[in-house]
Amino acid sequence: MASTAPRLARLGSLLARQAAPASLLQQQFRTFSDKAAAEAARATPEAAKAESDSWGKVRAFQVVLFGGLTGGLLYGYSLFTSQVPQTGPIAGVAAVPPPAPKTSTPGDYPAVRSSIAALLDSPDWDDGSYGPLLVRLAWHSAGTYDKATGTGGSNGATMRFSPECEWGANAGLAAARKLLEPVKAEHPWISYADLWTLAGVVAIEEMGGPTIPWRAGRVDHPDGQKIVPDGRLPDASQGAKHLRSIFHRMGFEDRDIVALSGAHTLGRCHTDRSGFSGPWTNAPTTFSNLYFQELLNNKWRKKKWDGPLQYEDAKTGTLMMLPSDLALLGDRTFKKWVSLYAKDQDAFFKDFSVAFGKLLELGVPFPEEQQQPATA
Ligand code: HEM
Repeated sequence: MASTAPRLARLGSLLARQAAPASLLQQQFRTFSDKAAAEAARATPEAAKAESDSWGKVRAFQVVLFGGLTGGLLYGYSLFTSQVPQTGPIAGVAAVPPPAPKTSTPGDYPAVRSSIAALLDSPDWDDGSYGPLLVRLAWHSAGTYDKATGTGGSNGATMRFSPECEWGANAGLAAARKLLEPVKAEHPWISYADLWTLAGVVAIEEMGGPTIPWRAGRVDHPDGQKIVPDGRLPDASQGAKHLRSIFHRMGFEDRDIVALSGAHTLGRCHTDRSGFSGPWTNAPTTFSNLYFQELLNNKWRKKKWDGPLQYEDAKTGTLMMLPSDLALLGDRTFKKWVSLYAKDQDAFFKDFSVAFGKLLELGVPFPEEQQQPATA
């Protein structure tokens, strides 16, 4: 009995700690311990002394226990008063805040360029690079511009919102926007509008193309209120008249239309996006004048298939042209530029660089001091 009482007291405290809430625990613990101590004291003087020592330890333990509990409660309160997620797997639960993500210094565009360049190569994507997809994103973000009203263009990055993100012409570009999210997280100070256009520029340069003049200054619109009417991007099933009406509306000339179309040296068509299928060249991740050479030097025949009208090269049937591409051969003025670019890559690079740089700036209200195009 003399040695079992203190043991009981300790066991009681342990059980109470695990099962009872703080205030109840304290009360029960004290009652149980007091009874056990009195019982032990009645037994023998040695047992009473042993019990008194043990009681002192229990008291010390109580101080530590309740001190810890109070500290824990205060810490818990501090977490709950910080942000608690309202949705997702840990909704309503305050978590220890994650370490701040690594971010770059505002204005460090070389760092943004490096991040974009680092994600281009991807063996699992199409022909091994996201480059062509990013060029298309940049072009479609800007190609909505209308010179007469000053509406549309890359400023605002309105493709983040419905209905622009759902336009048929933009099918497949969600993958490009998603791809760039980690870059935005790493450089949160850059606007989406600047990021998307810079991604197109970096992709062209990384794939061996010319340097494109680019400067920062686009801002993101907070919502889709400034989205322009659908139908401003070109329709691949149409001809020269349509191309002129689309590109002249942006302020481009015939020569620019041909130079810009040279971007189809990159990438391919996808049945699940545009409905068309296949690449224009056999080197779709290298920027070159190959598109013009293929266009000019091949015999093109209608592809026999269930899909929309498109053309294939008569020799191999592996390359494709859209009706809008062949329109560049059927129009005398357009064909003049096709012929020049097919034999003179430098001329193509020079003209493409100017036209693509201009496209990405259409409608962008740069601050006065930045009026001169620059390469960041
Ligand atoms: C001239 C009028 C144009 C028409 C009708 C047109 C049409 C198309 C179509 C139908 C596709 C296939 C989309 C898919 O299925 O994934 C495509 C892809 C592409 N376009 Fe154009 N485009 C035009 C001009 C341009 C311009 C001006 C550029 C850039 C300067 C450009 C860059 C690209 C690129 C890089 C791809 C490949 C995308 C990929 O591989 O994912 N296009 N275009």
